Amino acid sequence: MPLAIVILAAGQGSRMNSDLPKVLHPLAGAPLLAHVLRTAQMLEPARLVVVTGHGAEAVTRAVDALAPEAVVVHQAAQLGTAHAVAQARSALNGFSGDLLVLYGDTPFVRFDTVQAMRSARAEAALVVLGFDAADPGRYGRLITAGERLERIVEYKDATAEERAITLCNSGVLCADAAQLFTLVDAVESKNAAGEYYLTDTVGLATAQGLAAKVVRCDEAETLGINTRAELAAAEAAFQAGARAEALDNGVTMTAPDTVFLALDTVIGRDAVIGPNVVFGPGVTVETGAEIRAFCHLEGCHISRGAVVGPFARLRPGTELAEDVRVGNFVEIKNALLDEGAKVNHLSYIGDAELGEGVNVGAGTVTCNYDGVMKHRTVIGARAFIGSSTMLVAPVRVGAEAMTGSGSVITQDVPDGALALGRARQETKPGLARRLMTRLRAIKAGKTG
Ligand code: UD1
Ligand code: MG
Repeated sequence: MPLAIVILAAGQGSRMNSDLPKVLHPLAGAPLLAHVLRTAQMLEPARLVVVTGHGAEAVTRAVDALAPEAVVVHQAAQLGTAHAVAQARSALNGFSGDLLVLYGDTPFVRFDTVQAMRSARAEAALVVLGFDAADPGRYGRLITAGERLERIVEYKDATAEERAITLCNSGVLCADAAQLFTLVDAVESKNAAGEYYLTDTVGLATAQGLAAKVVRCDEAETLGINTRAELAAAEAAFQAGARAEALDNGVTMTAPDTVFLALDTVIGRDAVIGPNVVFGPGVTVETGAEIRAFCHLEGCHISRGAVVGPFARLRPGTELAEDVRVGNFVEIKNALLDEGAKVNHLSYIGDAELGEGVNVGAGTVTCNYDGVMKHRTVIGARAFIGSSTMLVAPVRVGAEAMTGSGSVITQDVPDGALALGRARQETKPGLARRLMTRLRAIKAGKTG
């Protein structure tokens, strides 16, 4: 059965108290919407539609970057979830098959759960994802008769008896697309909120003799984000799950509770992650690499046998080949470090290429920025960069070349050459002692 997915993301999210549209708030290093789009993409839908409203421009930009195949439609006024689904109709022109509705602010709905809903469609025209709520609060309540779902009542419209029901609506729903649009058209806004409720489609369907069914999931899966506190709780839930998954996959973590992972973090088997390591987006750590305590990583690839940290920062575009060493207080950005290269102490390497076996001494800086443009530094294989070398880019240091400690290198260094770019040392025998004696005498004369 072909599948189309509509993600509702038009709501204001006013309880976030933010200038940023709710669905763009980050969770595990990615916008909330990215989590939902990822699940949607895993389902390989024939069509993917995102309904935007508040902050439409920014949300559209995010969708274009995350899921260019998605069609973005605009809901100018937020008249309710049924009205939101109706906005997707023209984008789904010519589509026939099932339509799945997801919410942009409900990031944890699992692929398997949606698959279970799709299978349940064999038995029912409408399938709704429900959960048993510990505290049902203001969720819509599912009114059932045995296995059958009869209707959904929104909290605001519910009687005291209905409010006592703990089986709640997650909002996720699946039905034949054409049938759902017909039902959506029939929804009226005679409810407590004056909104067109998507949930009303269930009662309308069953009144016509169509069957509706509930597929249940864990409450944690339907966690919706409406406030900063819920966003923080969702982050904690994500981290707990991601840490457990990494441990299961054979990653060693000495203090998993202090490691923060991103939605797309990939860590290989037998990698070792020390305490207090933060993974931003786009990090891959290969099998057997080691990340020591207090590292901050984003947009980088760390190959097997590499050791990073403690206290290192790897920024986007960092590529560490096998057996590379990056030590304490080192920052690397947009740089390729070839096999066995070492940058062990207090250095900045940006917009650079370091050949195989290069050794960079403590306190080295690639001076990559002239205030307007960025320039590259290229260092050939097995070159030795003396401590505290300033490499003023654009500059090349040849293979097996050396730079003297404290040099400011402004010109290319040929292969095998030694470059010194510092003032020549002058030594005055006995001068230090004579100077000190004089200074002490001056001080004594002043105070005495
Ligand atoms: C909705 C359900 C409720 C369910 C709850 C689960 C309805 C009527 N109610 O209530 O049964 O228990 O979710 O979290 O569906 N949206 C739009 N356009 C609109 C209105 C909403 O795109 O005009 C989007 C929102 O951005 C959000 C989603 O739809 O992503 C749900 O809307 P929201 O207002 O949060 O509905 P709830 O009151 O939470
Ligand atoms: Mg909501």
